[in-house]
Amino acid sequence: MDISYILNELGEDRENYFNAIAPPIIQTSNFAFDTVDDLRKAFKDEMGGYLYSRGLNPTVEILRLKLAALDGAEDCLVFNNGAAATYAAVVANVKSGDHIVSVEHPYSWTKHLFDQILPRFGITTSYVDGRYIENFERAILPNTTLIYLESPTSWYFELQDLKAVAELARAEGIVTVIDNSYCTPLYQRPIELGIDIAMQTATKYIGGHSDTLGGVLCGSAEMMRKIFLSEYLCIGSGIQPFNAWLLLRGLRTLPARLDRINRSTVKVFAFLKDHPMVEGLIYPFDPSFSQYALARQQMTQAPGLLSFYTTMETAEQIEQFCNNLKAFKMAVSWGGHESLIIPKLSSMPRDLFDPTMKDHRMMRIYVGLEEPEYLINSLEQAFTS
Ligand SMILES: Cc1ncc(COP(=O)(O)O)c(C=O)c1O
Repeated sequence: MDISYILNELGEDRENYFNAIAPPIIQTSNFAFDTVDDLRKAFKDEMGGYLYSRGLNPTVEILRLKLAALDGAEDCLVFNNGAAATYAAVVANVKSGDHIVSVEHPYSWTKHLFDQILPRFGITTSYVDGRYIENFERAILPNTTLIYLESPTSWYFELQDLKAVAELARAEGIVTVIDNSYCTPLYQRPIELGIDIAMQTATKYIGGHSDTLGGVLCGSAEMMRKIFLSEYLCIGSGIQPFNAWLLLRGLRTLPARLDRINRSTVKVFAFLKDHPMVEGLIYPFDPSFSQYALARQQMTQAPGLLSFYTTMETAEQIEQFCNNLKAFKMAVSWGGHESLIIPKLSSMPRDLFDPTMKDHRMMRIYVGLEEPEYLINSLEQAFTS
């Protein structure tokens, strides 16, 4: 399906709402029925029609159709945020006594789920360096039911060979889930490579304006139905109509924003790569990146995020650099219009800073929609001030 058709037309029955270009926000919790029989039918299959907005809602339906088509998936569920989407995808596919194999640096709250919540129910997780397929082969146990991927991971940018992991998992009857937030389905196609569930935090690129949260799961109709009828309805973390509307608005400009971000990222990368105060960079489309060939093979672009190690040797210097970086806001998250920086040392007590630990001198940058020259000038000023 053509991406322009998906983003501008699919699911939009404009004749039902005065030919308005923007869809309505159906801000209702409830739907009424004319007859008991209609109500009975709705109870029988909550995925078959509108009953109550914790389940289906017409504004959300438009979003579901578009996001499923973007991923090339049969169906999609949209949650209030990415963490809720991950929670539902994982919990729906494990039971007491099961074992999960995960990449070693998943998003922090995903790791919390594996380390703190699931063990309470007798579910264990092994972490592997996902860059090598042999590590998955070795980690699989007779009770492994789920493999969790994030490619690339969002600080170290480790990739997994998605096709190889999907083939291995299918042969063993194991469900695969990937956090595909960095690439989005525009730049990486996990479902087509055989992954069962593609997750995204829509808070990032889909929303794109730092004004809403959202989370996406795409997969087979059977898998989405299974999650909908249990975790989705029970956790009650489905996206709200207004937030769904904001995500629909974000989708309209997704390709244009990502295209701009790609071009700026390459320029910021080139500036940092040669800078004397940068000791090393982690960026999947850097030709000297250790998994460059795989990155080129399974991703069509590497948008926005990159990490680097500075040569600055004191916490004060690094903090001053970040404090002086006027064009980059210091904040978590990414994917919005605004460029961001986050130094690793902000997550530890200052007196533990040790310059011999390379990670302590690490920073992650997100390149937003500003003019790239504006961003580069700001970096240069902060390096020299
Ligand atoms: C890679 C990644 N996955 C998942 C999440 C969680 O998404 P949300 O914040 O929408 O819950 C984040 C949030 O920062 C993230 O960076």
